[in-house]
Amino acid sequence: MGISVQNVVFSYNKKNPVPTLNNVNLNIDSTNEFICILGATGSGKSTLVQLFNALLIPNKGNIQVFDYIIKPKRNKKLKPIRKRIGLVFQFPEYQLFEDTVLKDIMFGPLNFGAKKDEAKEKAIEIAKKLHIEDLLDRPPFNLSGGQKRRVAIAGILVSEPDILILDEPTVGLDPKGKQELLDILTEYRKSTGKTIIVITHDMNVVAEYATRCIVLNKGNLSFDGKPDVLFNDLALLEENQLALPSISKIAIYLKDKGLIKFDKIPLKKRELEAIIRGEDHE
Ligand SMILES: Nc1ncnc2c1ncn2[C@@H]1O[C@H](COP(=O)(O)OP(=O)(O)OP(=O)(O)O)[C@@H](O)[C@H]1O
Ligand SMILES: [Mg+2]
Repeated sequence: MGISVQNVVFSYNKKNPVPTLNNVNLNIDSTNEFICILGATGSGKSTLVQLFNALLIPNKGNIQVFDYIIKPKRNKKLKPIRKRIGLVFQFPEYQLFEDTVLKDIMFGPLNFGAKKDEAKEKAIEIAKKLHIEDLLDRPPFNLSGGQKRRVAIAGILVSEPDILILDEPTVGLDPKGKQELLDILTEYRKSTGKTIIVITHDMNVVAEYATRCIVLNKGNLSFDGKPDVLFNDLALLEENQLALPSISKIAIYLKDKGLIKFDKIPLKKRELEAIIRGEDHE
């Protein structure tokens, strides 16, 4: 088990009668999951992932991260948790503060005890993977939004976390940049087998990549399960202000026109293709 959230209640302001997260329970394995966290704006997604790496501490309940338990009070040595759970923030600016990109990427390894040469070597290696090696001497502040996001991702990946979390990573990227990032995540998952958690409002990303969806609604866990179950429950989607992926919308349009037939709404291109060809999709 990687992360286990047990009866967690969290409020930014303890006097607030309605907590930001209300009695959340879930378990996340450290391998083989691609989890998408979904939910309307303000539903508590970014808050939840900050509890996963102990940037926020629960008011009630506890969070077990590998063999460490984060409780409402008396927590020590939280730093090892941040090495194991790597979180790329929703706003990359929050994460970049050194005067060059290289120093920014080296910060994690140095902070977790690596020697300077080793940190530099790792930073250059990861920069190559993310195609940002030509930015290494630039100050991070005047990069473009997409470049900043890559630097922020590099700064987390360089420490080789056990679980990688990205908060809305495709926002602000052009179509090519978005696809490149998704390819990097796919390759990372294939080569390491490690769990990736992505917060997103992009249902096409969910349809294509998610193995599991977690939906928050006003701080409550409203769904935890497979994407095909979620997207076949139209009432649940509506209740959580979620849309269908494009492929599903096209499929429903064609079905309404009497051009194709299916019982289960397809999510992926190959599923729709199978329906059009008259093959069963599963
Ligand atoms: N630092 C903070 N101090 C006080 N309240 C906060 C803080 N950060 C978030 N909130 C509040 O907590 C609630 C949940 O916010 P959160 O950022 O977790 O939502 P979200 O689901 O990530 O939304 P979005 O999709 O817009 O990113 C919101 O009502 C928000 O206003
Ligand atoms: Mg957010």
